[in-house]
Amino acid sequence: MAANPRPLIAGNWKMNGTRASLAELDAVIAGSGQVAQADLLICPPATLIAAAAAKAVGTRVGIGGQDCHAAASGAHTGDVSAEMLKDAGSTAVIVGHSERRTGHGETDAAVRAKAEAAWRAGLVAIVCVGETQAERDAGQATTVVGRQLAGSVPQGGSAANLVIAYEPVWAIGTGRTPTNLEIEEIHRFIRNNLMQNIKDFGLQVKILYGGSVKPSNAAEILNLSDVNGALVGGASLKASDFLAIAAASP
Ligand code: PGA
Repeated sequence: MAANPRPLIAGNWKMNGTRASLAELDAVIAGSGQVAQADLLICPPATLIAAAAAKAVGTRVGIGGQDCHAAASGAHTGDVSAEMLKDAGSTAVIVGHSERRTGHGETDAAVRAKAEAAWRAGLVAIVCVGETQAERDAGQATTVVGRQLAGSVPQGGSAANLVIAYEPVWAIGTGRTPTNLEIEEIHRFIRNNLMQNIKDFGLQVKILYGGSVKPSNAAEILNLSDVNGALVGGASLKASDFLAIAAASP
């Protein structure tokens, strides 16, 4: 077996934050030396990316976007392209977050086009997958995640351009998390899927867990097999919590 991928702790600020919030990024940067075992990424709202990236230059903290349009430019009012995120200083972009899939009707095909756009612009695509409560209750969790992987992850993935985030919809922002066994079951399923579909890199592509990760549960979750980091929402808004989560990674 190849060595485990280096953990990635990614913070998704969602639609939170004004320029004043960059003080939290300053604190993450200041504390990042204490969590050298993990790679760190902060995904602020698009309005803050350029300012955040300027602060993060030359530090261990990367800056990413939360979504991108599939096209490079054009008549798409209100949208932001992967090229624009790159130009503003991003190194990665989240695509297919459940809040985009549900709130904006994004299909697997749309998510896949966004991941391709990320690669076209030279960004790492963090592709999110995860089942709803109803799908889990119906015993469909792996079926749904398998379908999302097949539909949302483009050909050509590698450890350098692709991260998968497993985020059960019912665990996002709810304070509820799956059991350790449930997390390991899905992560193993995703790992096997990656090994079949991107043979050379399947072992090295990071698989993040997301959904109510906080300092008190981070160590337990981050030490599970085939968990290579976390995608953190609410707890990423406070630098001290985000750093505590990173400190809990193996
Ligand atoms: P949460 O969000 O940590 O607030 O549950 C996770 C996410 O949506 O990425």
